[in-house]
Amino acid sequence: MASFSCKIMALVLVLSLVSSSAELQKLEHSIKNDGSLSLLVIGDWGRKGEFNQSQVATQMGRIGEELDIDFVVSTGDNFYDSGLTGVDDKAFEESFTNNLDSALKESRATWKVVVGHHTIRSVSIHRDTKELLSSLLPILKTHGVDLYVNGHDHCLEHISSNESPIQYLTSGGGSKSWRGVFNSNTDKLRFFYDGQGFMSLQLTKTVAQVVFYDAFGSVLHKWSVTKELHSSM
Ligand SMILES: *[C@@H]1O[C@H](CO)[C@@H](O)[C@H](O)[C@H]1NC(C)=O
Repeated sequence: MASFSCKIMALVLVLSLVSSSAELQKLEHSIKNDGSLSLLVIGDWGRKGEFNQSQVATQMGRIGEELDIDFVVSTGDNFYDSGLTGVDDKAFEESFTNNLDSALKESRATWKVVVGHHTIRSVSIHRDTKELLSSLLPILKTHGVDLYVNGHDHCLEHISSNESPIQYLTSGGGSKSWRGVFNSNTDKLRFFYDGQGFMSLQLTKTVAQVVFYDAFGSVLHKWSVTKELHSSM
C-alpha cells in the first residue's frame, strides 16, 4: 500500500465560526488516479435562487462536470445569519488557532489550503480583517500555506501577498453582488470582479491552478503556480 502521505496531496482546512464557538475541520480526500484533485469554491449564496444564484449554480454544474471535480467547498453564509463573533475571545485562540497550528505543522501535504469565511485581505466592503492579520496570518506564513480561500465579500478577488507565497482568494459571489465599493490594498491585487460567480481549484503534484468564472460560466481570471517535487514526497 502506498504511504498515506502520498495519497493525501492536499490538506484543506475549513475554519467554521459558529456563533461563539470555533471549529476546525480537516478534509482528507484521496486524489484521482492521475494524481490530481479538483474542486469548486462558492460563497455567500443562500438567497433562494435570487440574485443570479440559480445561474451560478447551473454554471457550477457545467464546469464541475467539465473539470470532473471531487468536491465543492462553501466559504459560508449559506443561509445568512450571524457574523463573526469572538475572535478576541480566549476560546478562539485555545480551540482554534492552536488546532490550526498543530494541524498545519503535522501536515506533509504538497498543497496547504485554508478555507475560512472572513477575508484576510480584501478590496471590497469588508476590507482586510485586522484580527485575522494579527492572529491567523502568522500561522499561515509559518507553515507555508499556499492558499487562503474565503467568502464574506460578495465578489471574486485574487490578491497576492507581497511578503510570502500566500494567495488570498475570495469566492463570495454566490448571489447578491454589485456593491460598487473598492478600497485599495497594499498587497498585490491581481483580479477583482464585483459581480456573481465562483472559482475552481485544480491541484496536481506540481501545479495549482485557480480559475474564476462569472454567472455565465465565462472565464474571468486564470492563475497558476508550480512547485518543485521534493524527493521526500
Ligand atoms: C445577474 O448577472 C448579470 C450578468 O453579470 C448582471 O448584469 C445582473 O446585474 C445580475 N443581476 C443581479 C440581480 O445581480
